[in-house]
Amino acid sequence: MKLAVVGATGLVGEQILNVIKERGFHFDELLLVASARSAGKKFTYDGKEYTVVTAEDAIAQKPDIAIFSAGGGTSLEYAPKFAEAGATVIDNSSAWRMDPSKKLIVPEVNAKSLTKEDKIIANPNCSTIQMIVAIGPLHEKYKIKRVVVSTYQSVTGSGKAAVDQLFAERAVSAGQEQEVNKVYPHTIDLNVLPHIDVFQDNGYTKEEMKMINETKKILEDDSVKVTATTVRIPTVGGHSESVNIEFENEFDEAELRQILADAPGIIIQDDPANNVYPMPLTSHNRDETFVGRIRRDETQEKTVNMWIVADNLRKGAATNTVQIAEYLVSAGLV
Ligand code: A2P
Repeated sequence: MKLAVVGATGLVGEQILNVIKERGFHFDELLLVASARSAGKKFTYDGKEYTVVTAEDAIAQKPDIAIFSAGGGTSLEYAPKFAEAGATVIDNSSAWRMDPSKKLIVPEVNAKSLTKEDKIIANPNCSTIQMIVAIGPLHEKYKIKRVVVSTYQSVTGSGKAAVDQLFAERAVSAGQEQEVNKVYPHTIDLNVLPHIDVFQDNGYTKEEMKMINETKKILEDDSVKVTATTVRIPTVGGHSESVNIEFENEFDEAELRQILADAPGIIIQDDPANNVYPMPLTSHNRDETFVGRIRRDETQEKTVNMWIVADNLRKGAATNTVQIAEYLVSAGLV
């Protein structure tokens, strides 16, 4: 099994390599791929030295699986070329997500839909993934009518440069002289920006529309209504979401909690009396999705509120792609 990690030098690429090692995902040969700027650089991973290669070099070596996390442009250009050379591509960018011929996969919910014919598989947006892990099993049982979600998203979701902006601003606040390169249109330290990705004509941001459209695609149900407000906050790792879910059918709170507890990939942290609830800090480097603050919405029938947290670089990106790769291997699809 020849595995290529495209974007290996990026924030998500680094986590993909960590997750592969931790989970013991088996490969015989590993290709670390980055831009021409990094090609030729030495890279030590799991005690071995690798030389970073370009996408062209990697294609020539015909990998079996290529996990991409190198931005939408790189995916659009190179994913079809890797697929043509025989690789199954698992892509983290938004490039292929809404393409009707590509599947959008959260393994806990819809990996079974994959076949050998799927040569480019899309990984959903980080905020969508963690929400789907929690609402997927509830949709199956109670059928979701409408979801109202507000997110509290970490700067790591915007890549290394955004983390640098936050820490540079923090240094300036502490009286140090420091150049600040802005990724966001405003200061992010000690601030909150109701703005993730670009604004669309309808007043929503692209991130909000991703949550709306990707949710319907993964649940294979266009009747599910979703409305979203996505917000950037000055945390380093871990996205949080306040989610209000209205069902078609009545639910029993104890049964709903049991469904979540039994569902794969979920840990319930819900003991308010002891200040136990999911938080970004406690989700760091974890592969699970954490759910808490579960309570009936007292203003509306058949409706529940919950708080969902996951490490956006892990379950929101790296872990989800590696789980798809694990599924492909275990189901004999590569
Ligand atoms: P490089 O480090 O050479 O720029 P992040 O989002 O954290 O900034 O990471 C982006 C990742 O995508 C990096 O590993 C980056 O490599 C990689 N990348 C960017 N452009 C290309 C390309 N054309 N081919 C392969 N990898 C690319």
